[in-house]
Amino acid sequence: MPDMKDDIKEILISEEQLKETVARIGSEISRDYAGKKPILVSILKGSVVFMADLMRAVSIPCSIDFMVVSSYGGSNTTSSGLVKIIKDLDGDLSGKDVLIVEDILDSGVTLSYLMKLLQARRPASIRLCTLFDKPARHKVDIHSDYIGLEVPNEFIVGYGLDYAEIYRNYPEIAVLKPSVYSEDQ
Ligand code: IMP
Ligand code: MG
Repeated sequence: MPDMKDDIKEILISEEQLKETVARIGSEISRDYAGKKPILVSILKGSVVFMADLMRAVSIPCSIDFMVVSSYGGSNTTSSGLVKIIKDLDGDLSGKDVLIVEDILDSGVTLSYLMKLLQARRPASIRLCTLFDKPARHKVDIHSDYIGLEVPNEFIVGYGLDYAEIYRNYPEIAVLKPSVYSEDQ
């Protein structure tokens, strides 16, 4: 039977490390937003697993909303910079303390576009929380207010992150065998 494990070259980040990292970010958010009721805005689909764990690591009252964006024109491993909103937020952001929850800060193109778009809706504040940061790949001037872990300049999958929509359900962060990519050519 085919198993995702057969496609994996190495595990970069274990379930245990992910758990500790998410717990740490959750406490930072709970401390920084004490007395407020932030809205956690999850950018689908990559942040789905992180969001589910992070919201339970936040101990203060908060609400959640979801947005689906896609960068089109890119390939399976790079984004094009053209961002399309597939599903917008359900609620209004005006006067709210908004925390964008995203899987990874790569080129930063998608997030920098999104931050500007959501800023225009006049929230009380807007901050960014990314589980991973790939500083070597930033193309725009952007920083994340909450960062889980810095990762090397390698394409990673698992814990919500995909390659061609697969491996999101892999519980750890892994690097794929080169043969997986070559089979797709
Ligand atoms: P950016 O606009 O280049 O920052 O693209 C960000 C998006 O690209 C992320 O939300 C991910 O969906 C995807 N992405 C970037 N790097 C990786 C990776 O290493 N693995 C899986 N997806 C990635
Ligand atoms: Mg994605």
